[in-house]
Amino acid sequence: MTMATCLAIEHLHVALRAGHRRPAKLILRGIDLRIAAGEVHALVGESGAGKSMVARTVLGITAPGIEIVAGSVAFQGADWLALSAADRRAHLGRDIALIPQDPLTALNPVHTIGAQVADVLRLHLGHSAEQARVRTLELLEAVQIRSPATVIRQYPHELSGGMRQRVLIAMAFACKPKLIIADEPTTALDVTVQREVLRLLRDLQRDEGAAVLFITHNLGIVAKLADRVSVIHSGRIVEHGGVRQIFETPRSDYTRALFAATPRYDRPADALLPIEADVTDALWTEARAYDEGWWASHGPAKSPRKVAAHG
Ligand SMILES: Nc1ncnc2c1ncn2[C@@H]1O[C@H](COP(=O)(O)OP(=O)(O)OP(=O)(O)O)[C@@H](O)[C@H]1O
Ligand SMILES: [Mg+2]
Repeated sequence: MTMATCLAIEHLHVALRAGHRRPAKLILRGIDLRIAAGEVHALVGESGAGKSMVARTVLGITAPGIEIVAGSVAFQGADWLALSAADRRAHLGRDIALIPQDPLTALNPVHTIGAQVADVLRLHLGHSAEQARVRTLELLEAVQIRSPATVIRQYPHELSGGMRQRVLIAMAFACKPKLIIADEPTTALDVTVQREVLRLLRDLQRDEGAAVLFITHNLGIVAKLADRVSVIHSGRIVEHGGVRQIFETPRSDYTRALFAATPRYDRPADALLPIEADVTDALWTEARAYDEGWWASHGPAKSPRKVAAHG
């Protein structure tokens, strides 16, 4: 059975035109990316490869001088780029939600948490103030915030980074979106909090059936979270495939180089990142256990690889 396509990006070229006299520079040079309904798709690549540009193009958040010069983006089968900015905005937050990198700047410092979550519900779902209050409490509970009744009255600066990211995850899931774009959502968090937040994201994603485009340069997170992976290198997708195939038999030289340069879940930790690699390893083991059913129905016939012990 083939799953319905949630997002299809084809041949996307995006250029930066810095002034009329200057030649345009291509930032995205042919992006092909297909995300099935309900799938977690990791977009992985080095800094500057164009990961955020892919996200921003889909979200329609482009900077001055940024121009789509070729290609197409279809969301649930409809031409997404043909929509007016106003029509696209109506979908954003409702059908396509963003989990941003920095939870502090993404929240408005002068409004309470409760008001900000409720705003999403009132704007997109037309909730009354009372409906929105009740649902906000439910959502905060769903992201495992222990005392939601207190938190709705607090301001962003009163919460820890991990708590703020939970609030943003609650806001992203508030309208049961079909697609969530998460651009390095946990890089601002320390590794233990990162782990909790990622587990939460994965659980919610499975419960709600949302597709996720997960942008990261962290291969440990990819191993833990993703169903499928696209590797981006200087504005092009150089390889895509199932997460196991990418890890076990990468086809492109670039992917191999990227993996060799990064501490991996199955290799002794790089001296610079011992904690990261340790946690990553544990995450992979845990993800494997969690995913056993998934591997059984989707994975290749051979048994999943054993995770090598450190040390
Ligand atoms: N508004 C802009 N003006 C000029 N150049 C830009 C702009 N936005 C992005 N770029 C350039 O486009 C390329 C891709 O940037 P992008 O932010 O998508 O990278 P990234 O893969 O998300 O990197 P990182 O991992 O550091 O977030 C980079 O070379 C960047 O310098
Ligand atoms: Mg980026």
